[in-house]
Amino acid sequence: MKGRGVYIKTFGCQMNEHDTERMLGILSTRGFVEVEEPKKADIIIFNTCAIREKAEQKFLSSLGRLKHIKNKKSNLKIIVAGCSAQIQGINLLKNMPFIDYVIGPDNIDKLESIIESKYEKPKLFLSENPDISIKELPALRRDSVKAWINIIYGCNNYCAYCVVPYTRGRERSRPAESIINEVKFLAQQGYKEITLLGQNVNSYRDGDIDFPLLLEKLNNIEGIERIRFVTSHPKDLSKKLVNTMKDCEKVCEHIHLPLQAGSNKILKLMNRKYTYEEYIDKIFWLREAIPNISITSDIIVGFPQELDEDFEKNILALKEIQFDGIFAFKFSARPGTVASKLEGKIPESVKSKRLTEVLNLQDEITERKNKIYENAIHDVLIEDKNEEGVTIGRTRTNKIVKINRDLLKGQTVKVKIVKSNRHSLEGELIQ
Ligand code: SAH
Ligand code: SF4
Ligand code: F3S
Repeated sequence: MKGRGVYIKTFGCQMNEHDTERMLGILSTRGFVEVEEPKKADIIIFNTCAIREKAEQKFLSSLGRLKHIKNKKSNLKIIVAGCSAQIQGINLLKNMPFIDYVIGPDNIDKLESIIESKYEKPKLFLSENPDISIKELPALRRDSVKAWINIIYGCNNYCAYCVVPYTRGRERSRPAESIINEVKFLAQQGYKEITLLGQNVNSYRDGDIDFPLLLEKLNNIEGIERIRFVTSHPKDLSKKLVNTMKDCEKVCEHIHLPLQAGSNKILKLMNRKYTYEEYIDKIFWLREAIPNISITSDIIVGFPQELDEDFEKNILALKEIQFDGIFAFKFSARPGTVASKLEGKIPESVKSKRLTEVLNLQDEITERKNKIYENAIHDVLIEDKNEEGVTIGRTRTNKIVKINRDLLKGQTVKVKIVKSNRHSLEGELIQ
Protein backbone atom coordinates (compact mmCIF):
# COMPACT_ATOMS: atom_id res chain seq x y z
CA MET A 1 0.00 0.00 0.00
CA LYS A 2 1.25 3.47 -0.80
CA GLY A 3 2.09 5.41 2.37
CA ARG A 4 0.55 8.68 3.42
CA GLY A 5 2.40 11.73 2.14
CA VAL A 6 4.37 14.34 4.07
CA TYR A 7 5.57 17.58 2.53
CA ILE A 8 8.22 19.33 4.59
CA LYS A 9 9.89 22.68 3.96
CA THR A 10 12.92 23.68 5.99
CA PHE A 11 14.23 27.16 6.73
CA GLY A 12 17.32 28.08 8.74
CA CYS A 13 20.50 26.34 9.83
CA GLN A 14 21.89 22.79 9.77
CA MET A 15 20.27 22.16 13.10
CA ASN A 16 16.87 22.72 11.56
CA GLU A 17 17.83 20.62 8.54
CA HIS A 18 18.69 17.81 10.89
CA ASP A 19 15.48 18.27 12.91
CA THR A 20 13.69 17.82 9.58
CA GLU A 21 15.56 14.54 9.06
CA ARG A 22 14.45 13.46 12.53
CA MET A 23 10.82 14.39 11.88
CA LEU A 24 10.95 12.46 8.61
CA GLY A 25 12.50 9.57 10.56
CA ILE A 26 9.59 9.54 13.00
CA LEU A 27 7.03 9.78 10.21
CA SER A 28 8.64 7.15 7.99
CA THR A 29 8.47 4.56 10.78
CA ARG A 30 4.72 5.22 10.73
CA GLY A 31 4.28 4.71 7.03
CA PHE A 32 4.68 8.23 5.70
CA VAL A 33 6.67 9.01 2.56
CA GLU A 34 8.01 12.38 1.54
CA VAL A 35 6.24 14.09 -1.37
CA GLU A 36 7.48 16.99 -3.49
CA GLU A 37 4.27 18.97 -3.72
CA PRO A 38 2.13 20.32 -0.88
CA LYS A 39 -1.06 19.37 -2.66
CA LYS A 40 -0.10 15.68 -2.63
CA ALA A 41 0.48 15.67 1.14
CA ASP A 42 -1.57 14.43 4.09
CA ILE A 43 0.72 16.34 6.45
CA ILE A 44 2.52 19.59 5.66
CA ILE A 45 5.31 20.68 7.97
CA PHE A 46 7.05 24.04 7.90
CA ASN A 47 10.25 23.87 9.93
CA THR A 48 10.89 27.54 10.56
CA CYS A 49 13.75 29.89 11.47
CA ALA A 50 13.63 33.12 13.48
CA ILE A 51 17.24 34.26 13.36
CA ARG A 52 16.54 37.42 11.35
CA GLU A 53 13.32 39.19 10.45
CA LYS A 54 13.74 38.27 6.79
CA ALA A 55 13.86 34.57 7.64
CA GLU A 56 10.52 34.85 9.42
CA GLN A 57 8.86 36.86 6.67
CA LYS A 58 9.91 34.25 4.14
CA PHE A 59 8.11 31.43 5.90
CA LEU A 60 5.04 33.48 6.82
CA SER A 61 4.37 34.34 3.19
CA SER A 62 4.82 30.68 2.07
CA LEU A 63 2.57 29.57 4.94
CA GLY A 64 -0.22 31.94 3.90
CA ARG A 65 -0.38 30.18 0.55
CA LEU A 66 -1.31 26.88 2.21
CA LYS A 67 -4.72 28.13 3.24
CA HIS A 68 -6.36 27.35 -0.08
CA ILE A 69 -4.90 23.81 -0.10
CA LYS A 70 -6.34 23.23 3.34
CA ASN A 71 -9.73 24.53 2.20
CA LYS A 72 -9.83 21.87 -0.51
CA LYS A 73 -8.57 19.01 1.66
CA SER A 74 -10.13 19.00 5.10
CA ASN A 75 -8.18 16.01 6.49
CA LEU A 76 -4.84 17.70 5.67
CA LYS A 77 -2.81 18.54 8.80
CA ILE A 78 -0.61 21.62 8.82
CA ILE A 79 2.19 21.71 11.36
CA VAL A 80 4.49 24.63 12.07
CA ALA A 81 7.72 23.51 13.76
CA GLY A 82 11.09 25.11 14.47
CA CYS A 83 12.41 28.28 16.05
CA SER A 84 9.74 30.68 14.86
CA ALA A 85 7.02 28.27 16.01
CA GLN A 86 8.57 28.40 19.47
CA ILE A 87 8.53 32.18 19.81
CA GLN A 88 5.34 32.95 17.95
CA GLY A 89 3.39 30.10 19.56
CA ILE A 90 -0.26 30.82 20.07
CA ASN A 91 -0.15 33.92 17.84
CA LEU A 92 0.37 31.68 14.83
CA LEU A 93 -2.84 29.83 15.64
CA LYS A 94 -4.70 33.09 16.19
CA ASN A 95 -3.51 34.67 12.94
CA MET A 96 -3.72 31.53 10.84
CA PRO A 97 -6.45 29.30 12.21
CA PHE A 98 -5.87 26.75 9.43
CA ILE A 99 -2.69 25.64 11.27
CA ASP A 100 -3.28 22.40 13.20
CA TYR A 101 -0.20 22.13 15.42
CA VAL A 102 2.68 24.31 16.58
CA ILE A 103 5.75 22.40 17.76
CA GLY A 104 8.94 23.97 19.15
CA PRO A 105 12.41 22.51 18.39
CA ASP A 106 12.55 20.78 21.78
CA ASN A 107 9.30 18.96 21.08
CA ILE A 108 9.76 17.27 17.71
CA ASP A 109 9.31 13.92 19.47
CA LYS A 110 5.66 14.91 20.02
CA LEU A 111 5.00 14.12 16.37
CA GLU A 112 4.73 10.51 17.55
CA SER A 113 1.85 11.28 19.87
CA ILE A 114 0.19 13.62 17.39
CA ILE A 115 -0.04 10.82 14.85
CA GLU A 116 -0.84 8.07 17.33
CA SER A 117 -3.57 10.05 19.06
CA LYS A 118 -5.19 10.32 15.64
CA TYR A 119 -4.73 14.07 15.68
CA GLU A 120 -6.42 14.95 18.94
CA LYS A 121 -5.59 18.09 20.90
CA PRO A 122 -3.51 19.85 22.27
CA LYS A 123 -2.33 22.00 19.41
CA LEU A 124 0.66 23.67 21.03
CA PHE A 125 3.86 21.86 22.04
CA LEU A 126 6.19 24.51 23.36
CA SER A 127 7.12 23.52 26.89
CA GLU A 128 10.62 22.70 28.06
CA ASN A 129 11.54 19.13 27.23
CA PRO A 130 14.86 18.39 28.92
CA ASP A 131 14.69 14.79 27.69
CA ILE A 132 15.07 15.69 24.02
CA SER A 133 18.86 15.45 24.43
CA ILE A 134 18.65 11.86 25.68
CA LYS A 135 15.89 10.64 23.43
CA GLU A 136 17.07 8.49 20.54
CA LEU A 137 14.96 9.56 17.61
CA PRO A 138 15.32 7.91 14.22
CA ALA A 139 16.59 10.10 11.37
CA LEU A 140 15.85 9.74 7.70
CA ARG A 141 18.98 11.31 6.28
CA ARG A 142 18.86 12.77 2.81
CA ASP A 143 22.55 12.25 2.10
CA SER A 144 24.38 8.92 2.08
CA VAL A 145 27.96 10.22 2.46
CA LYS A 146 27.74 13.08 4.98
CA ALA A 147 25.68 13.02 8.16
CA TRP A 148 24.74 15.59 10.77
CA ILE A 149 24.80 14.54 14.42
CA ASN A 150 23.44 16.59 17.30
CA ILE A 151 25.79 16.70 20.26
CA ILE A 152 24.49 19.67 22.20
CA TYR A 153 21.05 21.25 22.36
CA GLY A 154 20.06 24.83 23.21
CA CYS A 155 22.33 27.72 24.14
CA ASN A 156 23.17 29.57 27.37
CA ASN A 157 25.21 32.39 25.89
CA TYR A 158 22.61 35.09 25.39
CA CYS A 159 24.48 37.09 22.80
CA ALA A 160 22.55 40.36 22.89
CA TYR A 161 21.24 40.08 19.31
CA CYS A 162 20.33 36.42 19.27
CA VAL A 163 16.98 34.71 19.56
CA VAL A 164 18.31 31.13 19.81
CA PRO A 165 18.43 30.87 23.63
CA TYR A 166 14.70 31.68 23.56
CA THR A 167 13.87 29.25 20.75
CA ARG A 168 16.04 26.26 21.62
CA GLY A 169 16.15 26.54 25.39
CA ARG A 170 18.92 25.77 27.88
CA GLU A 171 22.13 24.08 26.90
CA ARG A 172 22.09 20.29 27.28
CA SER A 173 24.80 17.89 26.11
CA ARG A 174 23.77 14.59 24.62
CA PRO A 175 25.30 11.54 26.33
CA ALA A 176 28.61 10.60 24.67
CA GLU A 177 27.63 6.95 24.48
CA SER A 178 24.55 7.78 22.43
CA ILE A 179 26.64 9.93 20.05
CA ILE A 180 29.30 7.24 19.67
CA ASN A 181 26.66 4.58 18.98
CA GLU A 182 25.03 6.72 16.33
CA VAL A 183 28.36 7.39 14.61
CA LYS A 184 29.22 3.66 14.67
CA PHE A 185 25.84 2.92 13.13
CA LEU A 186 26.43 5.54 10.42
CA ALA A 187 29.87 4.10 9.68
CA GLN A 188 28.30 0.67 9.18
CA GLN A 189 25.86 2.20 6.75
CA GLY A 190 28.72 3.59 4.69
CA TYR A 191 28.77 7.23 5.81
CA LYS A 192 32.22 8.82 5.42
CA GLU A 193 31.84 12.24 6.99
CA ILE A 194 30.10 13.45 10.12
CA THR A 195 29.39 17.00 11.22
CA LEU A 196 28.77 17.46 14.93
CA LEU A 197 26.10 20.06 15.57
CA GLY A 198 25.53 22.50 18.40
CA GLN A 199 25.23 26.25 18.92
CA ASN A 200 28.45 26.07 20.90
CA VAL A 201 30.09 22.67 20.53
CA ASN A 202 33.07 23.79 22.62
CA SER A 203 31.02 23.71 25.79
CA TYR A 204 30.06 20.04 25.29
CA ARG A 205 30.36 17.99 28.48
CA ASP A 206 29.13 14.58 29.58
CA GLY A 207 30.73 13.83 32.98
CA ASP A 208 34.47 13.67 32.32
CA ILE A 209 34.06 13.79 28.59
CA ASP A 210 34.61 17.27 27.18
CA PHE A 211 34.57 18.23 23.50
CA PRO A 212 38.22 17.36 22.74
CA LEU A 213 37.81 13.96 24.38
CA LEU A 214 34.61 13.32 22.44
CA LEU A 215 36.51 14.10 19.21
CA GLU A 216 39.23 11.64 20.21
CA LYS A 217 36.69 8.91 20.80
CA LEU A 218 34.94 9.55 17.49
CA ASN A 219 38.29 9.65 15.72
CA ASN A 220 38.71 5.95 16.58
CA ILE A 221 35.55 4.82 14.82
CA GLU A 222 36.45 2.77 11.79
CA GLY A 223 34.90 3.71 8.46
CA ILE A 224 34.41 7.39 9.21
CA GLU A 225 37.00 9.41 7.30
CA ARG A 226 36.19 13.00 8.15
CA ILE A 227 34.92 14.76 11.26
CA ARG A 228 33.66 18.34 11.21
CA PHE A 229 31.82 20.45 13.76
CA VAL A 230 29.79 23.69 13.95
CA THR A 231 29.71 26.10 15.68
CA SER A 232 32.60 27.04 17.93
CA HIS A 233 32.26 30.01 20.24
CA PRO A 234 35.61 31.85 20.40
CA LYS A 235 35.38 32.33 24.17
CA ASP A 236 35.40 28.55 24.71
CA LEU A 237 37.96 27.54 22.11
CA SER A 238 40.79 26.02 24.15
CA LYS A 239 44.41 25.12 23.39
CA LYS A 240 43.42 21.58 24.24
CA LEU A 241 40.89 21.60 21.39
CA VAL A 242 43.44 23.02 18.96
CA ASN A 243 45.88 20.23 19.88
CA THR A 244 43.18 17.60 19.51
CA MET A 245 42.30 18.95 16.07
CA LYS A 246 45.95 18.70 15.16
CA ASP A 247 46.40 15.17 16.51
CA CYS A 248 43.17 13.52 15.33
CA GLU A 249 43.72 12.66 11.68
CA LYS A 250 40.01 12.53 10.86
CA VAL A 251 39.22 15.98 12.24
CA CYS A 252 39.32 18.26 9.22
CA GLU A 253 41.46 21.38 8.84
CA HIS A 254 38.57 23.82 8.95
CA ILE A 255 36.92 25.83 11.67
CA HIS A 256 33.97 28.17 11.61
CA LEU A 257 34.70 30.73 14.30
CA PRO A 258 32.22 33.61 14.30
CA LEU A 259 33.92 36.91 15.13
CA GLN A 260 30.73 39.04 14.78
CA ALA A 261 32.57 42.36 15.17
CA GLY A 262 36.07 43.81 15.15
CA SER A 263 35.35 46.55 17.68
CA ASN A 264 35.69 45.75 21.38
CA LYS A 265 32.96 48.24 22.18
CA ILE A 266 30.53 46.37 19.91
CA LEU A 267 31.70 42.94 21.11
CA LYS A 268 30.93 44.04 24.65
CA LEU A 269 27.50 45.35 23.70
CA MET A 270 26.92 42.03 21.92
CA ASN A 271 27.81 40.16 25.15
CA ARG A 272 30.26 37.97 23.25
CA LYS A 273 32.64 37.71 26.24
CA TYR A 274 35.91 38.04 24.30
CA THR A 275 37.93 40.93 22.96
CA TYR A 276 39.27 41.26 19.45
CA GLU A 277 42.79 40.69 20.82
CA GLU A 278 41.73 37.44 22.50
CA TYR A 279 40.13 36.31 19.25
CA ILE A 280 43.36 37.06 17.35
CA ASP A 281 45.31 34.97 19.88
CA LYS A 282 43.09 32.01 19.08
CA ILE A 283 43.55 32.47 15.34
CA PHE A 284 47.27 32.44 16.04
CA TRP A 285 47.05 29.16 18.03
CA LEU A 286 45.04 27.56 15.23
CA ARG A 287 47.40 28.61 12.45
CA GLU A 288 50.50 27.74 14.44
CA ALA A 289 49.25 24.19 15.13
CA ILE A 290 47.54 23.56 11.78
CA PRO A 291 49.24 25.76 9.16
CA ASN A 292 46.88 24.94 6.29
CA ILE A 293 43.68 25.36 8.33
CA SER A 294 40.85 27.22 6.67
CA ILE A 295 38.99 29.62 8.91
CA THR A 296 35.54 31.01 8.19
CA SER A 297 33.47 33.43 10.21
CA ASP A 298 30.26 35.41 10.70
CA ILE A 299 30.06 39.21 10.84
CA ILE A 300 27.10 41.38 11.82
CA VAL A 301 27.06 44.94 10.49
CA GLY A 302 24.89 47.78 11.77
CA PHE A 303 24.61 46.61 15.36
CA PRO A 304 23.18 49.47 17.49
CA GLN A 305 25.77 52.15 18.28
CA GLU A 306 28.14 50.91 15.55
CA LEU A 307 29.82 54.18 14.61
CA ASP A 308 31.90 54.56 11.44
CA GLU A 309 35.03 54.03 13.52
CA ASP A 310 33.61 50.76 14.91
CA PHE A 311 32.61 49.55 11.48
CA GLU A 312 36.11 50.41 10.22
CA LYS A 313 37.41 47.85 12.74
CA ASN A 314 35.46 45.13 10.90
CA ILE A 315 37.29 46.10 7.74
CA LEU A 316 40.64 46.10 9.53
CA ALA A 317 39.81 42.73 11.09
CA LEU A 318 39.03 41.12 7.73
CA LYS A 319 42.28 42.51 6.33
CA GLU A 320 44.30 41.31 9.29
CA ILE A 321 42.76 37.86 9.74
CA GLN A 322 42.29 36.89 6.08
CA PHE A 323 39.38 34.48 6.53
CA ASP A 324 38.74 31.86 3.87
CA GLY A 325 35.14 33.00 3.74
CA ILE A 326 32.49 34.76 5.80
CA PHE A 327 28.76 35.01 6.18
CA ALA A 328 27.83 38.64 6.79
CA PHE A 329 24.47 39.88 7.99
CA LYS A 330 22.73 43.17 8.63
CA PHE A 331 21.72 43.40 12.27
CA SER A 332 18.08 42.48 12.68
CA ALA A 333 16.29 43.41 15.92
CA ARG A 334 14.68 40.26 17.33
CA PRO A 335 11.84 40.43 19.82
CA GLY A 336 12.81 39.82 23.43
CA THR A 337 16.56 40.24 22.88
CA VAL A 338 18.65 42.83 24.74
CA ALA A 339 19.91 44.36 21.49
CA SER A 340 16.39 45.07 20.29
CA LYS A 341 16.05 47.54 23.19
CA LEU A 342 19.40 49.30 22.70
CA GLU A 343 19.55 52.91 21.65
CA GLY A 344 21.54 54.08 18.66
CA LYS A 345 19.82 52.15 15.89
CA ILE A 346 21.61 52.26 12.56
CA PRO A 347 19.56 53.27 9.49
CA GLU A 348 18.84 50.52 6.97
CA SER A 349 20.69 52.38 4.20
CA VAL A 350 23.86 52.54 6.30
CA LYS A 351 23.58 48.84 7.14
CA SER A 352 23.24 47.99 3.45
CA LYS A 353 26.26 50.08 2.53
CA ARG A 354 28.35 48.47 5.26
CA LEU A 355 27.25 44.99 4.25
CA THR A 356 28.26 45.55 0.64
CA GLU A 357 31.63 46.91 1.71
CA VAL A 358 32.34 43.92 3.91
CA LEU A 359 31.24 41.41 1.28
CA ASN A 360 33.23 43.05 -1.51
CA LEU A 361 36.38 43.09 0.56
CA GLN A 362 35.94 39.47 1.62
CA ASP A 363 35.33 38.39 -1.99
CA GLU A 364 38.76 39.72 -2.91
CA ILE A 365 40.33 37.95 0.07
CA THR A 366 38.57 34.66 -0.67
CA GLU A 367 39.70 34.83 -4.26
CA ARG A 368 43.30 35.37 -3.19
CA LYS A 369 43.14 32.57 -0.64
CA ASN A 370 41.72 30.15 -3.20
CA LYS A 371 44.48 31.05 -5.64
CA ILE A 372 46.99 29.48 -3.23
CA TYR A 373 45.33 26.12 -3.95
CA GLU A 374 46.31 26.17 -7.63
CA ASN A 375 48.68 23.34 -8.60
CA ALA A 376 48.46 21.71 -5.18
CA ILE A 377 47.22 18.16 -4.65
CA HIS A 378 44.31 17.58 -2.27
CA ASP A 379 42.24 14.69 -0.98
CA VAL A 380 38.72 15.25 -2.23
CA LEU A 381 35.69 13.41 -0.90
CA ILE A 382 33.20 13.00 -3.75
CA GLU A 383 29.74 14.19 -2.79
CA ASP A 384 27.53 14.42 -5.81
CA LYS A 385 26.95 15.97 -9.19
CA ASN A 386 25.76 19.58 -9.50
CA GLU A 387 22.85 20.71 -11.70
CA GLU A 388 25.13 20.76 -14.75
CA GLY A 389 26.18 17.16 -14.17
CA VAL A 390 29.68 18.08 -12.97
CA THR A 391 31.13 15.94 -10.18
CA ILE A 392 31.49 17.86 -6.92
CA GLY A 393 33.64 17.08 -3.92
CA ARG A 394 35.26 18.86 -1.03
CA THR A 395 38.77 19.26 0.31
CA ARG A 396 39.32 18.63 4.01
CA THR A 397 39.46 22.41 4.32
CA ASN A 398 35.84 22.52 3.09
CA LYS A 399 36.52 24.01 -0.34
CA ILE A 400 34.23 22.84 -3.12
CA VAL A 401 36.07 21.18 -6.02
CA LYS A 402 34.58 20.53 -9.45
CA ILE A 403 36.04 17.57 -11.31
CA ASN A 404 35.38 16.82 -14.95
CA ARG A 405 35.03 13.05 -14.50
CA ASP A 406 32.38 10.57 -13.47
CA LEU A 407 33.33 9.50 -9.96
CA LEU A 408 31.57 7.41 -7.37
CA LYS A 409 29.93 9.24 -4.48
CA GLY A 410 31.69 8.56 -1.18
CA GLN A 411 35.16 7.90 -2.62
CA THR A 412 38.14 9.96 -1.59
CA VAL A 413 40.42 10.76 -4.51
CA LYS A 414 43.63 12.69 -5.06
CA VAL A 415 43.01 15.77 -7.14
CA LYS A 416 45.30 18.39 -8.60
CA ILE A 417 43.75 21.83 -8.45
CA VAL A 418 44.06 23.41 -11.87
CA LYS A 419 42.01 26.56 -11.43
CA SER A 420 40.58 28.59 -8.59
CA ASN A 421 37.41 30.65 -8.61
CA ARG A 422 35.84 32.78 -5.95
CA HIS A 423 33.42 30.12 -4.76
CA SER A 424 34.99 26.89 -5.94
CA LEU A 425 38.09 25.16 -7.24
CA GLU A 426 38.49 23.06 -10.37
CA GLY A 427 40.54 19.92 -10.26
CA GLU A 428 41.86 16.98 -12.26
CA LEU A 429 42.01 13.46 -10.99
CA ILE A 430 45.51 12.09 -10.56
CA GLN A 431 45.95 8.35 -10.80
N1 SAH B 1 25.64 29.65 17.56
C1 SAH B 1 26.31 30.19 16.49
C2 SAH B 1 25.53 30.91 15.44
C3 SAH B 1 24.08 30.96 15.43
S1 SAH B 1 23.24 32.01 14.35
C4 SAH B 1 27.33 31.14 17.05
O1 SAH B 1 27.33 31.50 18.17
O2 SAH B 1 28.15 31.57 16.29
C5 SAH B 1 24.28 32.23 12.95
C6 SAH B 1 24.72 33.64 12.74
O3 SAH B 1 23.63 34.47 12.51
C7 SAH B 1 25.42 34.27 13.92
O4 SAH B 1 26.76 33.89 14.01
C8 SAH B 1 25.25 35.75 13.65
O5 SAH B 1 26.31 36.25 12.88
C9 SAH B 1 23.96 35.82 12.85
N2 SAH B 1 22.87 36.40 13.63
C10 SAH B 1 22.29 35.90 14.72
N3 SAH B 1 21.34 36.75 15.18
C11 SAH B 1 21.32 37.80 14.34
C12 SAH B 1 20.57 39.02 14.28
N4 SAH B 1 19.65 39.31 15.18
N5 SAH B 1 20.82 39.88 13.26
C13 SAH B 1 21.77 39.60 12.35
N6 SAH B 1 22.51 38.48 12.35
C14 SAH B 1 22.29 37.59 13.34
FE1 SF4 C 1 23.08 32.84 19.50
FE2 SF4 C 1 25.29 33.50 20.78
FE3 SF4 C 1 24.07 31.20 21.34
FE4 SF4 C 1 25.30 31.52 19.01
S1 SF4 C 1 26.29 31.51 21.03
S2 SF4 C 1 23.29 30.65 19.33
S3 SF4 C 1 24.96 33.65 18.54
S4 SF4 C 1 23.27 33.23 21.73
FE1 F3S D 1 18.81 27.75 13.32
FE2 F3S D 1 17.23 29.71 12.64
FE3 F3S D 1 16.77 28.39 14.82
S1 F3S D 1 19.37 29.66 12.40
S2 F3S D 1 18.74 27.69 15.53
S3 F3S D 1 16.71 27.61 12.75
S4 F3S D 1 16.53 30.54 14.57
